Amino acid sequence: MEYSQKIAERLWNQPDKGELESHREETFIDDIIQKNHIEQELLSHLEGIQTVFDGGAGCGRFSILLAKHGCRVTHFDISQPMIDKAKELAQKEGVSDRITFVKGALEDLHEYEDSSFDMVISFDAPISYTYPNQEQVLGELVRICRRRILISVSSRLGYLPYLANPIQKNQFILDKSSSDPYVQWCIQNKANAVSEFSFDKEAVMSLWNNGLMGGSEEIAEYEKGGTPWCITYTFLPDELVAVLTRLHVKNIRLAGPGAYARTIPNELLVKIMNDPGQRADFLAFCYKYDSSPYVCGMGKDNLLAYREL
Ligand SMILES: C[S@@+](CC[C@H](N)C(=O)[O-])C[C@H]1O[C@@H](n2cnc3c(N)ncnc32)[C@H](O)[C@@H]1O
Repeated sequence: MEYSQKIAERLWNQPDKGELESHREETFIDDIIQKNHIEQELLSHLEGIQTVFDGGAGCGRFSILLAKHGCRVTHFDISQPMIDKAKELAQKEGVSDRITFVKGALEDLHEYEDSSFDMVISFDAPISYTYPNQEQVLGELVRICRRRILISVSSRLGYLPYLANPIQKNQFILDKSSSDPYVQWCIQNKANAVSEFSFDKEAVMSLWNNGLMGGSEEIAEYEKGGTPWCITYTFLPDELVAVLTRLHVKNIRLAGPGAYARTIPNELLVKIMNDPGQRADFLAFCYKYDSSPYVCGMGKDNLLAYREL
């Protein structure tokens, strides 16, 4: 088994991960925008879709939504705690009977026949965590898909700014008094992150050239029993299009959810989000702006691709 798979499994198997993930949209504005964008995209393309495969489905943000809209969903994830959280939420929503929960790794989808599902989705970077097998995994997801595939992978152009801005996540905090541990960590760590910061040309150029976040340090930490962040392969927009084109995917569209919001300071984002009317207008405009192919690389950190057959 590749280190990326072992590292991802240990990270997502942490017992509190499912609970934390299920509250993301209450705490970070970029997550609200990303979820809104994906939901709009999913719900406007449901015609003729009965069966869905959700790869790396997490705590069920999208598998439960689709089940609520009448789809039969295979919720597939490497982490049992994430699946358990999704089961609990699906039960609350009354859609357990429409979801099949499967524990497995995206690197091995051989049990599914070609064209098994009307729609295949994989959101918020599970494909990027399968490095160095990301292209094989994309190939398998396309293989099991009959009509439509919607995925989001980590974006190289979207990630590069984080290397020159370690406090970027602070821009998106919705409520500074939130008890969410990541919110509090961002706030407490801010001064330190700024004082310790220096622009690291080598790190930036390395990500620019090879697209890889993480590697030997994460492997060493894992071997010591630690829980590092996933080794993550970040795609360039043209590269993703080229891979999908090689897989005979047609009518590819890209988007960068979060690109518009990146230009707006926290004080103004919070003001917009706290006013229901402005919030709805803003999210609708973000969807429009972030769907432009000219800004797709600059999404929050994910690159979305759609295929219509
Ligand atoms: C950031 S979460 C995204 C969850 C969900 N797609 C969403 O958008 O809410 C990433 C998920 O991918 C799963 N994952 C990571 N590597 C995986 C792999 N190799 N195979 C299957 N699932 C994987 C993790 O367990 C986690 O639940």
